[in-house]
Amino acid sequence: MKAASRKDYLPIGIFDSGVGGLTVLSALRTRLAGEHYIYLGDTARLPYGTKSRDTVIRYSAQASLRLVEQGIKLLVVACNTASAAALPDLRRLYAPLPVIGVVEPGAQAVCRLLASKDGECHILVMATESTVKGGAYTRAIRALRPDARITGLACSLLVPMAEEGWMDGPIVESVIRRYLEQLGGEAARPLDCIVLGCTHFPPLAASIAAVAGPGIPMIDSAVTTAEAVEAELQKSGLLRPKDEEATGPPLRFLTTDAPERFARVGGLFLNLGLAPEEVELVAL
Ligand code: DGL
Repeated sequence: MKAASRKDYLPIGIFDSGVGGLTVLSALRTRLAGEHYIYLGDTARLPYGTKSRDTVIRYSAQASLRLVEQGIKLLVVACNTASAAALPDLRRLYAPLPVIGVVEPGAQAVCRLLASKDGECHILVMATESTVKGGAYTRAIRALRPDARITGLACSLLVPMAEEGWMDGPIVESVIRRYLEQLGGEAARPLDCIVLGCTHFPPLAASIAAVAGPGIPMIDSAVTTAEAVEAELQKSGLLRPKDEEATGPPLRFLTTDAPERFARVGGLFLNLGLAPEEVELVAL
């Protein structure tokens, strides 16, 4: 069969509200370097994290459909907010397409990190308002570690700061401090781990550490999501063959607004020079 008509040659589709999901794309490209990827950032409607659940589900379904129409073999929901609100709907709508979210892999990463720690552990989940409200991280972590004490902290303002390319400095740190102060008495309990429960947050990790204090491990879902994607492709026989034939570009970027802005900030997230001409403008 010609490569162009084989499913294993199709790209992996990835979406987020903006450039945050590029942290997941980076981990995927490290682990699955031979695969092709098509990334969609729904920047016209960012942020998702302060929207209602119904709106997040609707936006996520539209973003996913755009990728499905391109022809993909697997969909990665590289957004915690969308994963927490919309994963069952996306799986139902686009079945039999495999759909992988980032919340369960994030919970697995935490539990792996804390596996050698006996007794109750205190985990802080920093995420968007929608993710914290929905409680998806609490459920996913407790399913693996029932004795975990989990504190959710909505830090929605960190999303537009990251989209602005502001990762450090006094303004960023004072916003983080303002959020951490909301922990009140909870802050007195020593933290065993901080979960960066939003794909926009990993580039802010050093600033979060500077405010939260040294020695608290920080976890995000990028690496464990890449592992879950590899396992799924293996299981369904969809890993891209090594004796690859040329079938389209290895990396495509779509955005719903301002390609030049996506290229500028996305390049920071990817550690890669990204030219505006490499980013296609699409309407959902
Ligand atoms: N990066 C997304 C997340 O992981 C959403 C940020 C937003 O749009 O509010 O939650």
